[in-house]
Amino acid sequence: MNGEAKFVMIKKKAITLTVNERKYKFSVGNGFGDVAPSETLTHTLRRRLGLTGSKESCDAGACGCCAVISDGEAIASCMALTVDMDGKNITTIEGLEDPVNGLDPIQKAFIEEYAFQCGYCTPGIIIVAKALFMSNAHPTPEEIAEALSGNYCRCISQYTVLRALNKLAGNENAELATLTRANDEVKDPIPVRQELFLSPYANGHVCGHSLD
Ligand code: FES
Ligand code: FES
Repeated sequence: MNGEAKFVMIKKKAITLTVNERKYKFSVGNGFGDVAPSETLTHTLRRRLGLTGSKESCDAGACGCCAVISDGEAIASCMALTVDMDGKNITTIEGLEDPVNGLDPIQKAFIEEYAFQCGYCTPGIIIVAKALFMSNAHPTPEEIAEALSGNYCRCISQYTVLRALNKLAGNENAELATLTRANDEVKDPIPVRQELFLSPYANGHVCGHSLD
């Protein structure tokens, strides 16, 4: 040491995310505007990028409301740290609509079948379904139910969700044909739910959420 002050340049870490085909670069740290190491992907998408389609509900990986597609796979964005997503290709519900062809076929099927009520959980359900159909254009009813096993819908629209997705998959079987539309008279919905929804998708789990 010769007594001269030594300056060490600390390189700030930066991460890059591609979200709905747009590239974003973030600095990581605890300074103003930085992505903190503890920041979740839900937070980044909703509060930094204004993509509020993915909902923040349980914030614990239990409800599926915050689902996004990361490199082809549906993930709970509330359980992913943004710093760990460096280089990932993310699709949110806002990214599904095609500028030329309009809404995604899954979105169209949901509208056609009235497959939602509150709509709060719908973006997550559509995103999970999209990831499934991206890897398997003709999933079986069991594969659809299994894929949605991490999504919770607290109303009674599950059966129309399954009907929309099964129609899209080409599973026009007799069992599905017996289901009525959400706005039709439902005489005895409980046995229908018990019979068709064996997955946690409709297991009665209640998860509180706020509508902000
Ligand atoms: S908010 Fe992420 S799983 Fe519920
Ligand atoms: S559509 Fe949201 S709880 Fe059923």
